[in-house]
Amino acid sequence: LNNGLALTPPMGWSTWNVFHCEYTEVDIMEMADMLVTSGMLSAGYKYLNIDDCWEASERDPISGMLKYNETKFPHGILALADYIHSKGLLFGIYSSSGEKTCKKYPGSWQHEFLDAALFSSWNIDFLKLDCCFQDNIKDRATAYITWSKALSIQNRSILFSCDTDELLLNENNLEFPFQWAPEYCNMARIWGDIDDEWESTLRISDRATNIYYASQPGYWNDLDILTVGLGKQTIDEYTAQFSLWAIISSPLIAGNDLRIMKKEIANILTNKEVIAINQDKLCRSGNMFQRAFDGSYEIWAKPIHYENMSHFYDQNRTLSFSPLPFHAVVLLNQLNVTINITFEFNQLFGNNLSPHQPTPTWTVFIRDLWLHQDLGEFVDTWTAINVSAHGVR
Ligand code: DGJ
Repeated sequence: LNNGLALTPPMGWSTWNVFHCEYTEVDIMEMADMLVTSGMLSAGYKYLNIDDCWEASERDPISGMLKYNETKFPHGILALADYIHSKGLLFGIYSSSGEKTCKKYPGSWQHEFLDAALFSSWNIDFLKLDCCFQDNIKDRATAYITWSKALSIQNRSILFSCDTDELLLNENNLEFPFQWAPEYCNMARIWGDIDDEWESTLRISDRATNIYYASQPGYWNDLDILTVGLGKQTIDEYTAQFSLWAIISSPLIAGNDLRIMKKEIANILTNKEVIAINQDKLCRSGNMFQRAFDGSYEIWAKPIHYENMSHFYDQNRTLSFSPLPFHAVVLLNQLNVTINITFEFNQLFGNNLSPHQPTPTWTVFIRDLWLHQDLGEFVDTWTAINVSAHGVR
């Protein structure tokens, strides 16, 4: 969506994964404080997004306007937005394009322009639009287009996050939001809701394979809110999830309780070198280029910018994996035992060579962005020793 926003993948925090429907303005204000004091804001997480369940159970019977739940928000949404803005953060809200939200609060169906104006009067900077309670699948896709227009005529810049996960199975390929959403949305979900379990990370990243070309400044494939720090997975699993979201150029929306965030979780979410891969100004998205025959590992790569080398890059958006000077690479261990993973440079760099050409010698300099260490120069291969179960290097 060409609205000047999301020039790199959006970063922020959302209520959904940790609170679901159970939160009040006090929780949100505490989270705003924590975004600042934990170092999350300075690492780039600037949107604070309220998900479903902020609404009152009915619209105002006279004006037809949406109302907020006054028990949860005794001071009102505008006051909350002011507080969030006073912390240097941006404020996100949620609605559904259908008759109801997924949790059965009033949805925005046929109230698009009214609701967009209301949200704008509450000084929102971000809208996540779900698509529950809309039976006609074609209406669901059309609603995103209507909403895109409704937001564009407000006198605020509003990032449009399209939660297109319900758009499944129909004849018009609407189930592939990445094929149409880049024109109307700043980000769009590519798969169903994430859960705090390893299989969920793999399911979603698998779905992201081969759709890298859709992501570009103004639109990013959205892998869903991170589960890092929710508590049911290992540190290695969370590190792997964060690495994949970073290399795939997904929006990085954290979802953990920042008030009880442990140091090792903060170290993952605020790893500046890994975030820099996600926010890289070449703005390419990573893809999987190698998968072990036995399913034990995958290798992902993303071309990244380097100031003095930019003349090497072409402008066309096809990721050819032709020899490019700088790449981020994730070696992912899918097994629940420790393994070694060998990265053969020719697998990444040799793709565009004609079959008649002899395989060249590749000399590659490697830095480990989790250890923050230069590993040195390697010829033709590099083997990552002891990649932990469900871990990455
Ligand atoms: C479904 C979405 O995909 C979730 O991220 C969340 O927004 C819930 N709906 C809220 O009801």
